[in-house]
Amino acid sequence: MKALVYHGLGKKALEDRAKPDLRAPGDAIVKVTKTTICGTDLHILRGDVATCAPGRVLGHEGVGVVDSVGAGVNAFRPAERVLISCISACGKCEYCRRGMYSHCRTGGWILGNAIDGTQAEYVRIPHADTSLYPIPPGADEEDFVMLSDILPTGFECGVLNGRIEPGATVVIVGAGPIGLAALLTAQFYSPSEIIMVDLDDHRLEVARRFGATRTINSKDGRTAEKVRAITAGRGVDTAIEAVGVPATFLLCEELVAPGGIIANIGVHGTKVDLHLERLWSANITITTRLVDTVSTPMLLKTVQSKKIDPKPLITHRFRLDEILDAYDTFECAAGTGALKVIVEA
Ligand SMILES: NC(=O)c1ccc[n+]([C@@H]2O[C@H](COP(=O)([O-])OP(=O)(O)OC[C@H]3O[C@@H](n4cnc5c(N)ncnc54)[C@H](O)[C@@H]3O)[C@@H](O)[C@H]2O)c1
Ligand SMILES: [Zn+2]
Ligand SMILES: [Zn+2]
Repeated sequence: MKALVYHGLGKKALEDRAKPDLRAPGDAIVKVTKTTICGTDLHILRGDVATCAPGRVLGHEGVGVVDSVGAGVNAFRPAERVLISCISACGKCEYCRRGMYSHCRTGGWILGNAIDGTQAEYVRIPHADTSLYPIPPGADEEDFVMLSDILPTGFECGVLNGRIEPGATVVIVGAGPIGLAALLTAQFYSPSEIIMVDLDDHRLEVARRFGATRTINSKDGRTAEKVRAITAGRGVDTAIEAVGVPATFLLCEELVAPGGIIANIGVHGTKVDLHLERLWSANITITTRLVDTVSTPMLLKTVQSKKIDPKPLITHRFRLDEILDAYDTFECAAGTGALKVIVEA
């Protein structure tokens, strides 16, 4: 089968690999029909994710058709259409029982990280019963690809951790697919302001279409001043970091109002300064989270009922044999206007 393989800092190749086999009774082999590329895959290629070793097939998002199941799998049968969660969960360990699937003792974010991932024709899914979701008849497969990672991530790490309430003021730094997913799902709670910050005017334009009340291009370094002007000098109740570089976390430290929350989503590869000399008295909360995907069943219903429409996040489509072009397009988003690229296997 064809697979996109990571080969260390900045290196990747499309290669022929053996089709994966069932290894444990709880495994399923899924024939991938559609996958995509995540900002986190770019972090891996930049060397920010130490757990991902060279030789790994990348990808942690996708939909497909069950090819075969181990003897211990009860919930799925071959030929069923399934959504692959970016988080694998045994459902039984202490963390899973607490709903913290991201830290499952034998799962968590392992796909395209500690085990081979979805940017391939086939993928082995451990703990299939609790890591796959059935795709309802008639549902749009492409929309469901947005449920593997970006919608639960934006919602859980940004909106839920950020405790967004009706009337609240929110800033989301980073208008990539994750920031936009936070923007879409923040609107469940009717905040009064959702200010999107990015360096890319095209993405900010998309953010306005997705419901941002204001957008700020942070190129000029005057974002904090502008946010204070919008919020009567206070700053925001919730500052969501959806980039993963020191500058944007530092910006959130400047933007948060007394009593507010900084909800970090970004994957960080380097240390970031925490300005406690300013923040110690500001009653703020800082949250971090690896997406648990506990909200997937709920989000699935909101997508199916068209309460939220993730379709406009999809800007480009490629075949698996064109995945290197798909990476180039996704990486050069400022020039290509790319958000999520669908890769069809
Ligand atoms: N916590 C989790 O479980 C989890 C899950 C998935 C993704 N992530 C992370 O979320 C982050 C966002 O993912 P994505 O797919 O949207 O990435 P992306 O790279 O597509 O988007 C990042 C956006 O940030 C903008 N940006 C970059 N530098 C900036 C700056 N200095 N100021 C303002 N904006 C800036 C870019 O223009 C871009 O629009 C990544 O770090 C990704 O690894 C975390
Ligand atoms: Zn991801
Ligand atoms: Zn577990």
